[in-house]
Amino acid sequence: MEPVEDTIITVRANGSYRVNGRVKIVDHEGNVLFEGTNVALCRCGHSENKPFCDSSHRRVGFQSVVSADPRPAGVGIENRTP
Ligand code: FES
Repeated sequence: MEPVEDTIITVRANGSYRVNGRVKIVDHEGNVLFEGTNVALCRCGHSENKPFCDSSHRRVGFQSVVSADPRPAGVGIENRTP
């Protein structure tokens, strides 16, 4: 059996969710929208091709930079957004 490699989702600064690794995206009925290894998903809400990023985040000036919380797990968790 081959080892399963991690799929990494990067929250890009002022941009999309970049997915690197094997992924399958399906619609609400289970129909395949995408199956492959690398894709960018919209997180600004302005893409004309959701759930995929079409770079509209640049046009609308989307601003969001997410950084990992350096505190140990469980510390200050009440202040974290889900
Ligand atoms: S994040 Fe790129 S179009 Fe929304």
